[in-house]
Amino acid sequence: MLNKIISHTLPYFPQKFIWQFSKTYIAGESIQDAIDASKALNQKKIMVTLDILGEFIENMHQARVNRDEYLDLITAVEQTDVIGNYSIKPTMFGLLLDKESCYALIRDLVIKAAYHKNFIRIDMENSPCVDDSIEIFRRLKKEFPKNVGLVLQAYLKRTRSDLENMLDLRSDDSDLNFRLCKGIYIESPSIAYTDYREINTHYLEDLELMFRNKVYPAIATHDKYLIQGALTLIDKYNVPKSGYEFQMLYGVTPKQCQALVGKGHSVRVYVPFGQHWFGYSTRRLKENPAMMSHILKAMLGKG
Ligand code: FDA
Repeated sequence: MLNKIISHTLPYFPQKFIWQFSKTYIAGESIQDAIDASKALNQKKIMVTLDILGEFIENMHQARVNRDEYLDLITAVEQTDVIGNYSIKPTMFGLLLDKESCYALIRDLVIKAAYHKNFIRIDMENSPCVDDSIEIFRRLKKEFPKNVGLVLQAYLKRTRSDLENMLDLRSDDSDLNFRLCKGIYIESPSIAYTDYREINTHYLEDLELMFRNKVYPAIATHDKYLIQGALTLIDKYNVPKSGYEFQMLYGVTPKQCQALVGKGHSVRVYVPFGQHWFGYSTRRLKENPAMMSHILKAMLGKG
């Protein structure tokens, strides 16, 4: 309840105040901020995936502006020695306004990433976006087998069959590359598991299905139970270190991140940045007030 009240009043707090704790989770406003944060992580042997924060868009002009910002980001990053790739949210390119144009804009980004032998990850947003995001991924995966990946959310009841249905996209020379996360949006119990243990059980079942079918998983979680479960599966299936990676969010459980790196696992951190950090932070908090407790912990120095 307290979380809910605070998260709803946050938009009325001064930005400077909000920035004091948002900066734990957001790399900054500019491309240079993101590059600096990435280099610092790379020095700790951590790869990155860069994400430009965006607000909901209202027209396709804004979608093209977002495409251009990402093109600028890729141009800038590829001139550096940053070890990282890119994550995008389809709604920033008009998924909910004009699906075909959204596909074309995302394709522009994948063309550019492919030119640099790099990779674009399509994040998964809330449930109305899932079918169209999968369709866009399918089309791009056929054209750019090595340069595009998708996110799957273990809390959605449909995820297992989505995963099985996409196995047909595997080919000899290119893996399927899925980031597996729990899922951040509030979804109806009719379509999503809501119990912590149930979500974790499905997470590990989905991950096992990936290992059994030679899918490259990006194991995106900070949950110690899931990390241990993933390590057990890696042993069980004798998966080489090149066959998976762990992923965590910028500023979240950095010690856990470093511990995995210390044991020789590949780890990538999701680095969000951009001018829309304020709207993004407050909107995410309204979507999921449970995040407030993480932020309060960070403010009190226990994050
Ligand atoms: P859980 O929520 O149980 O957290 C485990 C522990 O981790 C907590 O007890 C806390 O200590 C710590 N923790 C977790 N999140 C924290 C935070 N934000 N701040 C501080 N501490 C925190 N979701 C989605 O729907 N679509 C997507 O595309 C993505 N993409 C994505 C990329 C990456 C790299 C990650 C790590 C996560 C996502 N997510 C996502 C979010 C994901 O679905 C999920 O909501 C969060 O990762 C939290 O779930 P955990 O698995 O960490 O477990």
